[in-house]
Amino acid sequence: MSETTTATASPAHERYSGLQIALHWATAIIIIGMIPTGMVMTSLDPSPFKNLLYELHKSFGLIIVGLTAIRLVTRWLSGAPPLVPMSPVKRAAAKATHIMLYALLVLAPLSGWAATSACCAPVNLFWSIPLTLPVSGGFDVAKRIFAVHYGLTLALAGLLLLHAAAALHHHYALRDLTLRRMLPGSGGTR
Ligand code: HEM
Ligand code: HEM
Repeated sequence: MSETTTATASPAHERYSGLQIALHWATAIIIIGMIPTGMVMTSLDPSPFKNLLYELHKSFGLIIVGLTAIRLVTRWLSGAPPLVPMSPVKRAAAKATHIMLYALLVLAPLSGWAATSACCAPVNLFWSIPLTLPVSGGFDVAKRIFAVHYGLTLALAGLLLLHAAAALHHHYALRDLTLRRMLPGSGGTR
């Protein structure tokens, strides 16, 4: 990418594919909803509403597993546009953040899924398709895996804040193409 590039539409080879963009934002919206919902639902008294939140939390978490699987295959097949010009330290930080986000996108839902399978089978997708993992051990094991689930989702929330702040900094302060090439729209050609 040219060093003099400004925040105009980016050429197709410097943008994420339409599928990658769709998967990125679908994942982001679901997770931004799930983190506070997860915290709220655990603190509610037993009620049908609490059960509803649990079912939605588990089902959307399973959707994240599916979206992430498709996303990793897409990433492997289509790669990603090169990062915009930046210092080696920032480049390393951006790459490390992306790798950690991908790792958490796999591990955070898997831990919730494994814990729920251990204590509270069946795990269903929206009350219907049974998707319980073969994890035994009951509540004792589940309690320990849920602690890991909580830690991983907190790490995900922290990294998300850092990642979003960096994206907005690139867009509004540095005025480069970083955010624009992850946005849907007609920016595929100049
Ligand atoms: C990226 C996806 C996910 C995120 C961001 C997420 C986030 C959270 C958060 C923040 C909590 C609250 C933790 C606490 O306050 O103790 C939580 C709890 C929980 N999560 Fe997830 N979760 C995800 C995926 C899943 C999946 C796939 C399942 C199961 C299929 C699941 C099952 C649960 C359950 C059952 C609880 C309640 C644990 C308890 O009652 O102590 N989560 N999740
Ligand atoms: C939980 C929510 C999010 C997750 C898990 C996430 C994850 C990721 C990952 C893994 C990448 C690397 C893509 C690749 O190169 O393969 C990425 C790129 C990107 N994300 Fe996010 N993201 C989230 C939310 C956000 C938000 C809220 C923003 C904006 C405010 C944002 C802006 C971007 C941008 C601009 C890129 C492209 C960076 C570049 O190419 O240099 N993301 N995201």
